Amino acid sequence: MEEPYLPQKLIDKLLSRHSKVQVSDVLRYVERLKQNLCLNPFQTPYSREVLFEDERGEILFMRWAKNVFCNPHDHASAVGYVVLLEGEFVERDYEFDQTLVRNGSRKVSSPGIFPFERNRIHDMKCMDEGYSLHIYKPSITGMKVYDLERRRTLCVDDSCGAWIPNDAYKILDVQFW
Ligand SMILES: [Fe+2]
Repeated sequence: MEEPYLPQKLIDKLLSRHSKVQVSDVLRYVERLKQNLCLNPFQTPYSREVLFEDERGEILFMRWAKNVFCNPHDHASAVGYVVLLEGEFVERDYEFDQTLVRNGSRKVSSPGIFPFERNRIHDMKCMDEGYSLHIYKPSITGMKVYDLERRRTLCVDDSCGAWIPNDAYKILDVQFW
């Protein structure tokens, strides 16, 4: 049987409601993840790989392009956290009330970890090429991606990252504002 990229014990810890995850729990697996997963992102802000998913949630590994913001997005009904493994990131917050308004922006460095609560809208970029692990509880289904240019909100297929999909069939719903 193929070696999983993360041991089951760590997966259980990442998806647990109670245990406190430390960045160091994940850091020792970075090289293995980097060597085996995620193509260099081409024309998207990051490439993504689902490492694990069950009824508790999902764990995604992402490889970031240099200096490209993803689109502002929510995480549907999920809560969770991001483990920054490599690279310096910028995260920006938004609020939506008839239009999308940017609230704040911060630099976040690797190694680091930050939680996000339900209903948070944000975007991120990596200043250089970088890597991150994303834990969503439960799995994201029905993510909203905000398109500032065309003033619309897209509900996208669960296989999509936080950008406007090229394939029209991956756009499940559009609301203009
Ligand atoms: Fe996000």
